[in-house]
Amino acid sequence: MSLTPITGRRLGSHEDESRPKVTTASLREQKLRHEPITCLTAYDYSAARLVDEAGIDMVLVGDSLAQAMLGYENTLSVTMDEMLHHVKAVRRGVKSALLVADMPYGSYQIDSKTAVSNAARFVKEGGAEVVKIEGGEKRAELIRQIIDAEIPVAGHIGLTPQSVNVMGGYKVQGKSLVGIEQLMRDAVALDRAGVACLFVEGVPREVAAMITSEVGAPTIGIGAGPDCDGQVLVFHDILNLTFGPPAKFVRRYGDAAGLITNAVRAFREDVRSRQYPSDEESYHLPKETKAGLETVLERKRAMQR
Ligand code: KIV
Repeated sequence: MSLTPITGRRLGSHEDESRPKVTTASLREQKLRHEPITCLTAYDYSAARLVDEAGIDMVLVGDSLAQAMLGYENTLSVTMDEMLHHVKAVRRGVKSALLVADMPYGSYQIDSKTAVSNAARFVKEGGAEVVKIEGGEKRAELIRQIIDAEIPVAGHIGLTPQSVNVMGGYKVQGKSLVGIEQLMRDAVALDRAGVACLFVEGVPREVAAMITSEVGAPTIGIGAGPDCDGQVLVFHDILNLTFGPPAKFVRRYGDAAGLITNAVRAFREDVRSRQYPSDEESYHLPKETKAGLETVLERKRAMQR
C-alpha cells in the first residue's frame, strides 16, 4: 500500500511511451513542414510531466522562474545554482520534449570561458539539451564557442528581459526602421552562428514574420504574432498563477489560482468543522491488535478501581 498519495502515479513511470523524442533536428524539420512548434515553460517535476505528457514539443526552464516561482522582482537576481535546481527537477519529468535551460543574468555576460563552463553545467549536471542566451549580434561569437563545446544554443532577441534596465522597461522592440534593421541583423547573425532555434519576444508581428522567413532556424515567438514557426508561453501565465494583469499576448487557458484557492478553503473548512478526516480516511488497528489492546486497557482500568 502506498503511503504517498501525493505522487498519484509511480515516480518515473511515464504514460506516453510512444511519442518520438523531439530533437534540434526534428524542430528544423517541423519548420520546413510548416508544422507549428509548441513550447511552454516548466519549473518543477510535476509541471514538466504534465507539459511533456500533453505533447508539447519544447520545455523551457525559463529564468522567468525568478518571478513565477521565487517571487523576485525581475529575472536579474536568479542564480546559476537556483536555475540548476529547477532544471534538474524538470529533467526528471520530461521524456520526449526538447529540454531548454535559460542561462541566467551574469552567467554568460562576464567572459566566454565562464559562459561555456556554465553552459556545460546545465548539460552535465542538469540534463539540459539546449541552453538559451539573450541578446543579438553581439552574442554571435559566444554562441559559436558554446556550440564548439557541443552544446546547442537557442538565441533570444527582441524584448530581452535581462536588459530591462538598459531598455528602460519591458518595451516592444523593433518599432522604428532603425530598430527593425537591428533586429534583422541580430537574427541573421545568430542564425549564421548556428542557433538551434530563435526565441523572438515582444516585436511587431510584421517584423517577426520577416525574421521567420529570413532565417533557417525555427523562430519561437512570444508576443511576436502568429507568423513565427512556433509559440511559447509561460506556464503560470496560461493558468492564471501570476497575481497580476497579464500581458497583451497572454491567453489564459485555465484558472489554477481559482482551483487552488477553492480547494485550500474547502480543506480549511473541513478541518475546522471536523469533517476531515473521516473514519474511511483513517488507518485502523488489525482486529487481533485491537482486541489485545482492549484487554490491556481493561486490565489497567481494573487495577485503578
Ligand atoms: O524566461 C522565460 O520564460 C523566457 C520566455 C518568455 C521566452 O525566456
